[in-house]
Amino acid sequence: MLYSEKVMDHFRHPRNIGEMENPDAIGEVGNAKCGDIMRMYLKIDGDTITDVKFMTFGCGSAIATSSIATEMIKGKKIKDALQLTNQAVVEALDGLPAHKLHCSVLAEEAVKAAIKDYYDRNGIDYDKSLYAPGTCVCCHTADKKDD
Ligand code: FES
Repeated sequence: MLYSEKVMDHFRHPRNIGEMENPDAIGEVGNAKCGDIMRMYLKIDGDTITDVKFMTFGCGSAIATSSIATEMIKGKKIKDALQLTNQAVVEALDGLPAHKLHCSVLAEEAVKAAIKDYYDRNGIDYDKSLYAPGTCVCCHTADKKDD
């Protein structure tokens, strides 16, 4: 099968989906080529992410990766959530087809963007190198969205 059971499960039953009222931070990232957009909302208490929600307008893999990413950072310290990589997201989903790997980059970037928003809102200094121009290759080779 092209997609793992976990990918299909998170695609069909996304966790933590929806908007959040009064979030402490919002991260929105997108890819101009495929048009997929991911928005992540965080509630933060002290240095802990107490709640996460997401909205993804995009392909099935983007939905599955956002869904599992919310589970992976909920309840975590901010500094631990910042360590989330797209590779970890893909592993947690038991893999993605090679041509969909780029979709997982959006999840990592959305988490980082939301935490940056939290830092910016609260005037907290942070490591700017975390937000260097990304290595996202989303859709550079994909010419159609078939899933
Ligand atoms: Fe661009 Fe999946 S995120 S096609």
